[in-house]
Amino acid sequence: MIIVYTEDKNEIDRVLRGFPWWETFRKSKFCVIAKENEKVVGVCCIRSALNIFPTYVIKEYRGLGIAKMLIGNTIIIAGKKNYSFLIGTVGWEKDPNIPMRKVVRKLRFRKVVDCGNETLIIWPFKEQWVSLC
Ligand SMILES: CC(C)(COP(=O)(O)OP(=O)(O)OC[C@H]1O[C@@H](n2cnc3c(N)ncnc32)[C@H](O)[C@@H]1OP(=O)(O)O)[C@@H](O)C(=O)NCCC(=O)NCCS
Repeated sequence: MIIVYTEDKNEIDRVLRGFPWWETFRKSKFCVIAKENEKVVGVCCIRSALNIFPTYVIKEYRGLGIAKMLIGNTIIIAGKKNYSFLIGTVGWEKDPNIPMRKVVRKLRFRKVVDCGNETLIIWPFKEQWVSLC
């Protein structure tokens, strides 16, 4: 398994075409990609002014720590790029998304607010964002 990083839009478009959530990933600022024998098995990208970090691991590769590794690397890269925060929501009305909750808890994201099964979380690189939590 290798983890690669790219912010090249053409590469993101080419490598992730056909992968789940491609329409979301292709609009990203950068992506961290897990590959097994050249096959893409997991992706975490940063997109929008809010620096949301959609993450997807294909079913056969789940539960192996790949999401934790992808998001962990994404945090390191975003920190080096001097981002102020990453933000995301976990779960939705019909599904709390326990696997993703475990991942973000282990990585020590901060919870901003719960809204039913949906939770707003933040990674505050800068102190001013900590007061949100
Ligand atoms: C959420 C997702 C990215 C997690 O990927 P992953 O590579 O399997 O995550 P990890 O292996 O790093 O960690 C998952 C954790 O949840 C646990 N888990 C997996 N399925 C579970 C379940 N049904 N119930 C309880 N825990 C579960 C795993 O055991 C692991 O915990 P552990 O580290 O304590 O063993 C993956 O399930 C996925 O792509 N889902 C669809 C897309 C999605 O929901 N994305 C997140 C929203 S942005």
